[in-house]
Order: sequence, then C-alpha cells, then structure tokens
Amino acid sequence: MKVDGVHYRSIWFDEAAERPRIIDQTELPHRFEERVLEDVGSAAEAIRTMRVRGAPLIGATAAYGLALAVAADPKTASLDAAAQQLAETRPTAVNLRWAIERVVNVVRGAEEPERAAIALDLAKQICDDDVAACEAIGDYGLALLREHFPEKRSKPLQILTHCNAGWLATVDWGTALSPIYKAQEAGLPIHVWVDETRPRNQGASLTAFELRQAGIPHTVIVDNAGGHLMQRGEVDAVIVGSDRTTSTGDVCNKIGTYLKALAAHDNDVPFFVALPLSTVDWEISDGLREIPIEERSSSEVREMDGLTTSGDVETISLFPEESPVANPAFDVTPARYVTALITDEGTCTPDRAGLAALRKSSAVG
Ligand code: MRU
Repeated sequence: MKVDGVHYRSIWFDEAAERPRIIDQTELPHRFEERVLEDVGSAAEAIRTMRVRGAPLIGATAAYGLALAVAADPKTASLDAAAQQLAETRPTAVNLRWAIERVVNVVRGAEEPERAAIALDLAKQICDDDVAACEAIGDYGLALLREHFPEKRSKPLQILTHCNAGWLATVDWGTALSPIYKAQEAGLPIHVWVDETRPRNQGASLTAFELRQAGIPHTVIVDNAGGHLMQRGEVDAVIVGSDRTTSTGDVCNKIGTYLKALAAHDNDVPFFVALPLSTVDWEISDGLREIPIEERSSSEVREMDGLTTSGDVETISLFPEESPVANPAFDVTPARYVTALITDEGTCTPDRAGLAALRKSSAVG
C-alpha cells in the first residue's frame, strides 16, 4: 500500500543495512518514521511496545527477530532463548507462536553454518506468504460482499470496522480492510465507519490514516456509536480481523469487537471476520476458556497522546492516579454471532466443519 504515493510494506529487509526495517506505528498518524531492527532485543521491544502490532505483523517481526538472533549466534541455545524472548512479548495473537515454531523447526534441522541464511530466507518467505494470503482474503471478501449485496446501489456500501486490520496490521493489504481496498479497485462505491478503538485508538490513528492515504471515504466514530448507526440502517456489514480463531470459529479480536457483534446480531447486519489461516489455533475449541487475554498497562487508559497546536505530540492524563484501571486488550466473539469467516483459502461458516474443509486445501494448517 502507498504512503504519499510511495509503496510500502509494514516490514521489509533493508539489503544495504542487512537489517529489517519497520514503520514505527506508535508515531502514527502524526509522524511517519522508519526504524531499523538491530537485533532480537529490538524486535521483541518493537512487538511489546506496539511499534509493530496486528496479529500477522507480529508473527513476521518475530521471524525476522529469530533471523537476527541466528545471524548473531547460530547455536541452538541462542535460537531457543530468542524464541522464548519473542514468545513472551504478547500472549493473545497466535501468529506469533505460529511464526516462531515455523522458523525454529526449520533452523533446528539445519547445520550451524547454514542457519543464518536459512532463517533470513524463511522470514522473507513468511512476509511474502502473508502478502499473498491477505490479497487472497481481499478477493474472497469482495466476492462475498458482491454475493450479499448484489443489487445496483444508489448509495455506497457502508462497512463498519474495529481496531486496525489493514495493511499496517499485516505485511501488506490487511485482513478486514483488504476486501475494502479490492472494492475500491473494482470501482464499488464504499464508505467505512472507523471505530476509534480505545484505549490505543488504532482505528482513529491507523485505520483512518490508511483509508486517507488510499482515498477511501471514511468517518471516525466513537466506539459506542456503532449500535446506534446499525439501528438506523446505516451499516450494511461489519468486517473485523482476528488475533486468534478457535477450530470451532470463536473469534478473539480487539476489545469491543464482541459488543459490535451483539449489535450486528440484533440488527440483522452481517458480521464478517477476515483472517489468514495462520490465525487459527487448531488446538483449541472454546475461545472464552482457552484464549489468554492480554492485560496491558493502565497508562493506556489513563493517558492519551495528541498533537498540540504548536505541532508537538504530548501525553495528557485523563483522570487521577487514585482510580484503578483494568485494561483487557482483547475479547472473544462466540462463533454464533459470526456470519462468515473470510480466509486466504476461501470463505466458510464459522464452525469446525467449515474451517476443517479450508484447512485441507491449505499448506498452513
Ligand atoms: O493490539 P493490536 O493492535 O495488535 O490488535 C490488533 C487487532 O486486534 C487486529 O484486529 C487483529 O490483529 C487482526 S489484524 C490483521
């Protein structure tokens, strides 16, 4: 996707510096800054502090982190320590574990002198695979939208999305936003309701940034507005991403997703979830009981960053320290509220049979 007309991926390998580079998402939307990942420690820091975030992107970053660790020391002990360091950064998105296991398994099977090159090639491959998967999600998602909304419309299709599941959350294209980019390419008029997504405001900061850059009409709304808009017929469909999906179709995504699903259910609005199959945790079947929910710092709720009139980014405190804070970062939407899953292998019903059929045709599962 493009930023000011220049094509970017959210992470890429800088061949001259022999290091991966990222877009520092904590600086967006006010500043566009690139960073070099120097070693496994800086990859882990980038994931933990959310310079990179979004399930597929943290998997890709972890793969590069392992490649950096192996380049510094190809011994198995160093590989295992790096894998553990990266795995501890964020607990909910399963792509992290998926990417780490994939790299560790391949590198362990190689001779030490070959490990650095093999790990780097695999990290690049994971990124390329993610781009292809997300583009496929876009194609399948667009076909699904056409199927649900076949009639010629006088008004744009109104899509509501939560958090950021666009190209910044993946390597390119995105998951929930990929069908929207494809719709725009196909000339289908579309408008996006962007949930601001407190506390970190990934919607207002990142999704709105992406859509502005792509020239896609959108409106930022507070997180509580979605139900009201659905009651008034102003939302045709909801599309969100997923950090972990159970083998039975329960979906864990950014906190607040569940309430959107309830409102969609009450108003007969289709609720679609877009995900690469690398986001499915095939080992679990009960999202509420089995998915670990990340609890993040109270400062994310207590404080907010913003641009002052003098052009500086400042942090303000919203309420006194004396009030305690809870900050669960994700919630689980039971499969019964999901209309369909849009994956890189096609669309399916949110259940064991639907996912198992797609898994068969995939090399990922
Ligand atoms: O905490 P974040 O910003 O990493 O959460 C991201 C989300 O919840 C996305 O919706 C999810 O990763 C799917 S994105 C492709």
